[in-house]
Amino acid sequence: MDTVANALSPQEKKILLNLKGEEDVEEIAKRLGYKELVEVMSPISWLSRKGLVEIRERVKSVYYLTDRGEKILKGGLPEARALDLIKKGSSMKDLSKQLGGEASVAIGWLKREGCKIEGGRFLIDERKIADLEKEISGELKALKNPDDKAYELLKGRGFVKRKEKSMRWASLTKIGEQVRGRLKKEKEEKKVSQITPELIKSGEWRGRLRSYDVRAYAPTPRVGKRHILTLLIDRVRDTFLKMGFKEIRGNYVVSSFWDMDVLFIPQDHPARDLQDTFYLNHSFDLDPDLLEKVGRIHENGGDTGSKGWGYKWSEEEAKRALLRTHTTLETIRYISQHPKGPIKIFSVDRIFRKEAVDSTHLPEFHQIEGVVMEKRADFRELMGVFKQFYSLMGFNVRFRPSYFPYTEPSLEVQIYWDGKWIELGGSGMFRPEVLAPFGIKEPVLAWGLGLERLGMILYDLKDIRDLYTNDVDELQSFPLRR
Ligand code: PHE
Repeated sequence: MDTVANALSPQEKKILLNLKGEEDVEEIAKRLGYKELVEVMSPISWLSRKGLVEIRERVKSVYYLTDRGEKILKGGLPEARALDLIKKGSSMKDLSKQLGGEASVAIGWLKREGCKIEGGRFLIDERKIADLEKEISGELKALKNPDDKAYELLKGRGFVKRKEKSMRWASLTKIGEQVRGRLKKEKEEKKVSQITPELIKSGEWRGRLRSYDVRAYAPTPRVGKRHILTLLIDRVRDTFLKMGFKEIRGNYVVSSFWDMDVLFIPQDHPARDLQDTFYLNHSFDLDPDLLEKVGRIHENGGDTGSKGWGYKWSEEEAKRALLRTHTTLETIRYISQHPKGPIKIFSVDRIFRKEAVDSTHLPEFHQIEGVVMEKRADFRELMGVFKQFYSLMGFNVRFRPSYFPYTEPSLEVQIYWDGKWIELGGSGMFRPEVLAPFGIKEPVLAWGLGLERLGMILYDLKDIRDLYTNDVDELQSFPLRR
């Protein structure tokens, strides 16, 4: 209760201290001198969210005079003016002249009331006049005080209009009363909500700052935000940059050679199937020396000491163009061009696989790729990199043995989330068959991790497509950082 009391804004305090029983909010606004209803509604709704005030709402019919009604109220009802003239002996002609546009209304009314005309004049006896005056005074009363009865009485004459209005009444709750009691006891010490150089210099700010209730309701402004996927990519990027890595990029269209052959993926590997990979109707020109070296390694291991895969390697197959199926080729290409370490590079980039779209698969997604190449790099360091990366991202990791044609040993990386271990990607140390064609002797640690998976975890999405649907309302609702 103290926390709530301390965090009340001056407006909330004002309302809390001044509420009387159950009162119409418009009355409260008037009584406390607010110009606009919203000025009083905001603190009242904050107080209601905190459980200090109860708001009751009901739709009520309200009646008010139209412009014509106002005019009649000032100038008099036509029938009243007609009756006055008749009492003074005016003829029908005089009535028409004096009343102008209102004459027909007044005459119609008198006729309906059963007044007879004889010789160009209304003939009305004393008793009838008294009756009519009574009726007119009733109408006048209705006009001065428009309500549902008045509306019925004057209906059709365009004096009174009805409108549906939602009415709100506010009253203190039990807790509200207790907090109010506390506020009253509190001696009027001046709290400030804005700090000034003077307050800092004198040290007087101590104990005088009003506390804020950050859970208090406030309308959410609609502002431009970056897309959640962009935010995540930036965060991954920042994290690797902090760890001393350099970013690389590559093209979407590459040769099978770089995407697969260089990585010692045999040409009959299922991943190379048309079902799994998007091929393009194009063939790359490649360095014949390199083609030969890699081909030999596939066939018999070349001089790597490996036996190779033992099949007839096809140069044509290697030259085929495809949409890269991973970003691992970018890292091997980079180190092939920089065969002397040390190297620490990463990429967060788009890849393509022929997947049927469902809640966990997309044909286009991103991989977080990286390598470390240095003399003393070892398996332990590989695990250290993941531990550091994911702990900066806020996760615990564990490792499981795994297999890739291009790494030995290989690791699967898992992170702990929501009571479960979730697989996030593969890694390992590049095999000699991969490094030999480029004359690389230093050990290379390599990995490729899922980005969208991480996004689903961080943004609590059940469906991977939600990352790409771009529903603006949904996107607005995501926190900036999780
Ligand atoms: N390229 C692998 C994948 O796409 C991941 C990986 C990268 C594994 C580097 C080992 C080394 O899943």
